Amino acid sequence: MNIDILLGLQWGDEGKGKIVDALSPDYDVIARFQGGPNAGHSLEFNNVKHILHLIPSGIFHTDKLNIIGNGVVIDPAVFKKEIEELGPSVDELSKRLIISNKANLILPSHRILDAAYECSKGNSKIGSTLKGIGPAYTDKTGRNGLRVGDILKEDFVLKYKDHLNNHLAILKTYDFIFDIEEYEKGWFEGIEMLKKFPISNTEYLINELAQKDKKILAEGAQGTMLDLDFGSYPFVTSSNTISAGACSGLGASPKLIGEIFGIFKAYCTRVGSGPFPTELHDDTGTNLRNIGREFGSTTGRPRRCGWLDLPAMKYSIMINGVTRLFMTKADVMSGFESIKICTAYKIDGKICHELPFNNDSVIEPVYTVVKGWEEDISGQRDFNKLPLPLKNFIEFIENQTGVPVTMVSVGPDREETIFRS
Ligand code: GDP
Ligand code: IMO
Ligand code: MG
Repeated sequence: MNIDILLGLQWGDEGKGKIVDALSPDYDVIARFQGGPNAGHSLEFNNVKHILHLIPSGIFHTDKLNIIGNGVVIDPAVFKKEIEELGPSVDELSKRLIISNKANLILPSHRILDAAYECSKGNSKIGSTLKGIGPAYTDKTGRNGLRVGDILKEDFVLKYKDHLNNHLAILKTYDFIFDIEEYEKGWFEGIEMLKKFPISNTEYLINELAQKDKKILAEGAQGTMLDLDFGSYPFVTSSNTISAGACSGLGASPKLIGEIFGIFKAYCTRVGSGPFPTELHDDTGTNLRNIGREFGSTTGRPRRCGWLDLPAMKYSIMINGVTRLFMTKADVMSGFESIKICTAYKIDGKICHELPFNNDSVIEPVYTVVKGWEEDISGQRDFNKLPLPLKNFIEFIENQTGVPVTMVSVGPDREETIFRS
């Protein structure tokens, strides 16, 4: 069982990038299994912050292999920009980054369709990152997609034009002004960049390496509450963000899965529309946003902030089969006199522990209030020396969920991480 999975338990931005980078020394391979440039995974070391969208967060460890799996949707223009911003030469990076030939491509017209669909939704917008994710996955499941392996074929440009014409016909039915040429040049340059990297049937490689006792870390994007099936549909993304998505998004046999690391913030955030039962519209919410620097890594949008939501987290733990919990942003909670934890919902006057089907249900969170702590904990590296109220907060979460919290993150830097044996 050599494949571990790390994924978000909330609405994304839990700190996956930082923790994957911090865990990478223990692994041989780091593999992204779903999502695309809607993701923004930040990691920090030597006082420099990096934001990755498509490239796995193990890329800065020079001795690790990184894989972009078949479940990911790739915008070549974004890929090129990201590669160029990384620092090392393309030649060097191409020795440690492999791309699945089955990953679907995001076309320039997918981005335009994304914008046209959102525009047509009026007041019920999803709040998409507008990176073309929904239309690209729609074409994948509709069996109309173009895949990375197709770029190596002679008829690729012809095929591209066919796809473009289909999309243009759809766009004619929308009252939407666009300029496809604005995207096309960068997109074709991105195709040339993709060709400089190994493109292969990575499912063979992943299963082979795992059988040979190499350790693989599967890196999730988004979060469980944004999962296509189990999130607050339709305010979700278009892929399966859950642990099952790691098997289908990498071609990894479920027999090879070991630990499932569920990562959560000590509070909650959400970008885009959709239900958020513990959202705070007051000064506390503003404080969380300012202290936690809660602004989107991909779009820069302010994130909605609220207290920790245990019914949602327990649901995520159940769906994913989480074996260990990792808590991030514990440092952000320093200085709060008291902290609220939602332990149940009240819907139509009744206590409820399950997530409702209807997005318009009026949910009143039922809170347990715990004592906060004053101390700045960002320099702390010893779990035992953390303030007692924080240890009590963690114990409360463990008791409620039945899963141990084995890592606490106390800052954005890779060093600001406390592992608990
Ligand atoms: P991801 O999408 O799950 O990788 O998360 P993002 O990178 O979008 O957002 C997490 C943000 O919190 C980034 O700005 C990180 O640098 C930052 N971060 C991660 N862990 C911590 C932590 O423990 N404390 C603080 N203060 N910031 C953190
Ligand atoms: P990471 O990997 C937070 C949200 C969008 C929107 C909805 C659908 O950084 O955690 P999409 O572009 O997929 O059509 O948007 O999902 N969303 C994210 N929110 N973190 C992300 O990724 C997200 N990726 C998509 O804001 O509400
Ligand atoms: Mg993010």
